Amino acid sequence: MESNHEDIERVILSRQDIADIVERMGEQISSDYRESTPLIVAILRGAVVFVADLMRAIDCPLEMDFMAVSSYGAAAKSSGVVRIVKDLDTPIEGRDVLIVEDILDSGITLSYLIKNLESRGPRSIEVAAFLVKDVPGRKPAVRPRYVGTHVPDAFVVGYGLDYAERYRNLPYLGVLKPEVYS
Ligand code: IMP
Ligand code: MG
Repeated sequence: MESNHEDIERVILSRQDIADIVERMGEQISSDYRESTPLIVAILRGAVVFVADLMRAIDCPLEMDFMAVSSYGAAAKSSGVVRIVKDLDTPIEGRDVLIVEDILDSGITLSYLIKNLESRGPRSIEVAAFLVKDVPGRKPAVRPRYVGTHVPDAFVVGYGLDYAERYRNLPYLGVLKPEVYS
């Protein structure tokens, strides 16, 4: 039988590391949104695993919706082109919106999304990113209010993150062996 694990060079975050991160983020978000019933907007598909855990770590009332954008295709590098593939079903005028994203790399995806959502008149928009990729010499286009942790400039998979739609089901975060995508 084929295994996902064979394609992983090293583990960056174990299941327990992830659980600790999510717990801490949930506590922060719970205390910040206690008065407001935020609308959680999870970005398909990468944020699905993270949001499922994060929402259960938040103990104030909330609603959720999904958006899908495409910017990567099956490549390991951003094309710089962002397109809304699935829009929200929920009107966000006057709402406190919390965008939940798996990883902030160039920030192209999120800055486009924030601009788009801002035009709909929400009361606030914040971002919770599970990961922020640190690339030396690069300033991120977006500054998330909530950050799980930072990762080095390598292609990471697992815990919802894919390469060509695979590896999302790995319960940990790992660096993909470069020979898998080169
Ligand atoms: P950005 O627009 O460059 O910030 O790209 C963000 C999106 O690219 C994320 O939502 C991911 O879907 C994808 N992405 C960026 N880096 C990685 C990675 O290391 N592994 C898996 N997906 C990634
Ligand atoms: Mg992706």
